[in-house]
Amino acid sequence: MKIFDEIESEVQSYARSFPRVFHRAQGAYLFDQEGNKYLDFLAGAGTLNYGHNNPIFKEKLVEYILEDGITHGLDMHTKAKGEFLEVFKKHILEPRGLEYMVQFTGPTGTNAVEAALKLARNVTGRENIISFTNGFHGCSLGALSVTGNSHHRGAAGTSLGAGVSTVPFDGYLGDGIETTEYLDKVLSDSSSGVDTPAAVIVETVQGEGGINAASFGWLQNLEAVCKKHGVLLIVDDIQAGCGRTGTFFSFEDAGIKPDIVTMSKSLSGYGLPFAVVLMRPELDEWKPGEHNGTFRGNNLAFVTAKVAIETYWKDDAFEKEIKRKGEYIHERTQAIVNEFGEGNFTLQGRGMMRGINCVSGELAGKITKKCFQNGLMIETSGADDQVVKFLCPLIISDEDLKQGIDILERAIRDVCAKEDDMPEAKSYFDENYDIAV
Ligand SMILES: Cc1ncc(COP(=O)(O)O)c(C=O)c1O
Repeated sequence: MKIFDEIESEVQSYARSFPRVFHRAQGAYLFDQEGNKYLDFLAGAGTLNYGHNNPIFKEKLVEYILEDGITHGLDMHTKAKGEFLEVFKKHILEPRGLEYMVQFTGPTGTNAVEAALKLARNVTGRENIISFTNGFHGCSLGALSVTGNSHHRGAAGTSLGAGVSTVPFDGYLGDGIETTEYLDKVLSDSSSGVDTPAAVIVETVQGEGGINAASFGWLQNLEAVCKKHGVLLIVDDIQAGCGRTGTFFSFEDAGIKPDIVTMSKSLSGYGLPFAVVLMRPELDEWKPGEHNGTFRGNNLAFVTAKVAIETYWKDDAFEKEIKRKGEYIHERTQAIVNEFGEGNFTLQGRGMMRGINCVSGELAGKITKKCFQNGLMIETSGADDQVVKFLCPLIISDEDLKQGIDILERAIRDVCAKEDDMPEAKSYFDENYDIAV
């Protein structure tokens, strides 16, 4: 379709990796206008944990729309919002011993991050925020200031320096160097040049930064350093939350309790825009309307978010499934790395948020392109786009999961194979996944 070239802005990104006109979607599959089928291992960059057009949510959503339920409600009390809050409290917060107030922000993850940073600064009366190398928190100015990636930072058009100190994430300085000790040291030293911060903002698994998973020990140490210095701990769970790592919140298995949590992406369950900030009750010092926004009341998202929690989070069956599938991904990718990585490839991540670090962005790009030619949509992440990133829907069937990894394995074999091995790999493609791009 020429129209996209004619009038859609150059800012497009995913459209460049997957140059097709998509039309329909169901579960783990997307279909283009020509009826070609693609297995989706991108899942709206972590927004479709429960798959495309989940039939359970769709039925309730259609029912609600046909009854003329409120669609847009500013931040007014509505039945749909009340019901979401009830189930969120009952099935998510209470079983985990978490007491959070819920702030409905503008509907993007970025806006939740902006709200969290403002809140932390206003409550503590301090300006500085600690962010981490390779962190990604969004593209508006405040969120960008705590984001590492120079491509995104460079688009700001203004200085992002003030009020943020970036320190090394877990593993950044190599194995065996505990970077929370560095943080503790600079916060303890009045001459370190790092002002006492309002908060630390961290992803437990860095999504856009290359699927870097912090160890549980590091997260526990980080929480302890924050407590020691009276600094608030913000966990940005926008990508790693909603079950992606195996538990509803990505920090649960580490046994930490952040002061503030940001959530979005898969929270609505259906891909509808929706974001919240969770905060300890004593931090809720907002004055009415201080962080306002027109689209803080997407009631369609409240309806599907409620059904998502009721369907998948009433007991631990779904968590067990995610862990089982996560193990399968790990085993298969370990075998791939052993066979084709020539000692260079490494595995990243945990749960169903995993990646293969191919070291070179060029190589990773060739692999994902080859995957797409063979019916698998999968993206890269990391500073140089060097990590092939698995974000398939959590509800994916075992068969589809196997098929997706088979396609990836063949793509890696094809791209990495020596000339002699190529014919076999090629014929496998021809027989199995013949979608021309
Ligand atoms: C951890 C994290 N925080 C914030 C954001 C920004 O969310 P949004 O794109 O909805 O503004 C993202 C998006 O990828 C993210 O992964």
